[in-house]
Formats: sequence, structure tokens, C-alpha cells
Amino acid sequence: MTASAASLEAQAKINLALRILAREEGGYHQLETLFARIDFADTVRVATDTHLRELQCSGAEVGPAEQNLAFRAAEAFMAEALWPRGFQISIEKRIPVRSGLGGGSADAGAVLRILNALAPTPLSDATLATLAFRLGADVPFLATNAPLALAWGRGERVLALNSLPAREVVLCFLPFGVATADAFRWIAESRADEPLRAPALIRAADIDRWDGVARLSHNDFETPVIQRHPEIATCLEALMAGGARVARLSGSGSTVFGIFERRSPATFQGLPEGTRVVGSRTLTTVAPVRLLD
Ligand code: C5P
Repeated sequence: MTASAASLEAQAKINLALRILAREEGGYHQLETLFARIDFADTVRVATDTHLRELQCSGAEVGPAEQNLAFRAAEAFMAEALWPRGFQISIEKRIPVRSGLGGGSADAGAVLRILNALAPTPLSDATLATLAFRLGADVPFLATNAPLALAWGRGERVLALNSLPAREVVLCFLPFGVATADAFRWIAESRADEPLRAPALIRAADIDRWDGVARLSHNDFETPVIQRHPEIATCLEALMAGGARVARLSGSGSTVFGIFERRSPATFQGLPEGTRVVGSRTLTTVAPVRLLD
């Protein structure tokens, strides 16, 4: 008998590099980013032996089910796969919302991967990627099982790369979130006189070692976000002083991460008040879908 339920650790992303390029006519920005997945996850479970369409979430307040990205991912999948089943999604949330770690997108990506493993007629990778992109810019990467990838466009063009050796990652959760739409607006305002940016091209050959990644690591959101939230600069300095090889804002924030060559210190001096520190690591393989029954 085929399984009707499955679970997946929806692992978060960090952006090792993130450049915001030209602003399109419609207001959206082109970007270039180097994504890495980390060992820090929500747990997503989907059952399809039901006529209901439901989503339950524990660990964070995420608003109405119908607007949740994971719920919309399931609806979009069922419509595209012509598979008119119900679904019960349950999510144990650990990834903070508005933190720049792609939590909601990772949950949506996990739902797509789970449903594709359960569906009688799975969708092609290309169709899954198109569905993912309609849900949000981080979803195409987070619907794959790539531990490391470059992405361009608005995030829909994804080139999976060979993984790098696992490194320890320290995540600093600041006691506030940043709305992505605000962060893009701050960038657009700061570039009012300079609407065109030359494409920044990261070469795959430059990122086959951590040395190369450390050299080109960058995040265009840091300057405008730090202007509004100077605690982020304090946090970056504390991680570098603690021996981080790379310290960056992830996405539009507010999470700051540090990557360590050797073991990270047990404590960091000078972190902003209210910062929660969580240890993680980069992945060499992404969690697989686990069929449940
Ligand atoms: O993708 P999402 O709907 O979360 O984006 C929120 C807002 O951020 C968009 O309405 C747009 O103003 C801005 N944005 C952008 N360029 C992108 C992604 C988002 O300007 N690539």
C-alpha cells in the first residue's frame, strides 16, 4: 500500500552572499545570492487521508491558515497535480518569523517535497520549481535538496553546487524582526539616484572552498538595515571578535550568523541585550522525506 502521510525537517537557509541588483519596472528587484542550508529546522508533517484542508502550527503565531505559505503550497500542488485530496499539515515551528532564515518558505518547500513523494503521479522538477516560485523568492531553493546553491532572477533560477565541508554556525536572534518589503523599500530609497546596478556575477569556481566564500561574502541589506537597527552592527562585531570567519546578516534580517573554522566560543562578549544564541552547522546533505504510513 502506498503511504498517505510523511514528514520532513524543513531546514532553514542562510545567505552567504546576497546582492540586490536592478529594480524592475514592477518594483521587484533582481538579485544574486549564495544560499546554504543549515541544521536548524521546523518539523513539517502532511497527511492526505482526509477530505479536510487544515493547517496546525505550534511554537509560533502564524496567522490565518489559508494565508500560510505551506497551506498555499499544498493547494497549488493539488491543483497542478490534478490530485483533489484533502490535507492536514502540522508544523512545529522553531525558525523565528521575519528572521531572514526562510522559515515560512522552508515549510512551503517541505510541503511541496512531501506531496511530490506521496502523489500517485509526481510532478517534474521543473513544474515543482515553477509552483515554488509563485509562492516566494526563497521557495525554489528550499523545495530542492541542495545544501548549497547560487540563485538569480528573483530567486527562481537555482544552480545547485557541490556542498562545502560542514562548518559550525552560530545564529544570533535579535529581539525584533525585519519585514522584507520594508528592507527592499529602504534599498530602493537609498538608490533613488542610481536605479541601475551592474550585474554582480559570482563564479562557481570562486566558491568551491570556504576561503573563496569568506572573500566574497556580502549582504546589500546590511547597510540600510543597520541604519535602522544599529544593534545588528554590534552583533556582527561580537561574532568577529569571538573568532568567526564570516559574520553576516541573513537575508533582510534580523538574524545574524557567524561561521567558524574551529569550535566557536561558549559565550560572546558584547552581544546586544535580548539576543538569543543558538548553535547550528552547515549541511552536506539535506534531510530526506520520511514516509509515515
Ligand atoms: O516576496 P514578498 O511578497 O515577500 O516581497 C515583499 C515585497 O518586497 C515585494 O512587494 C517587493 O516590494 C519587495 N521585493 C522586491 N524584490 C524582490 C522580492 C521582494 O523588491 N526580489
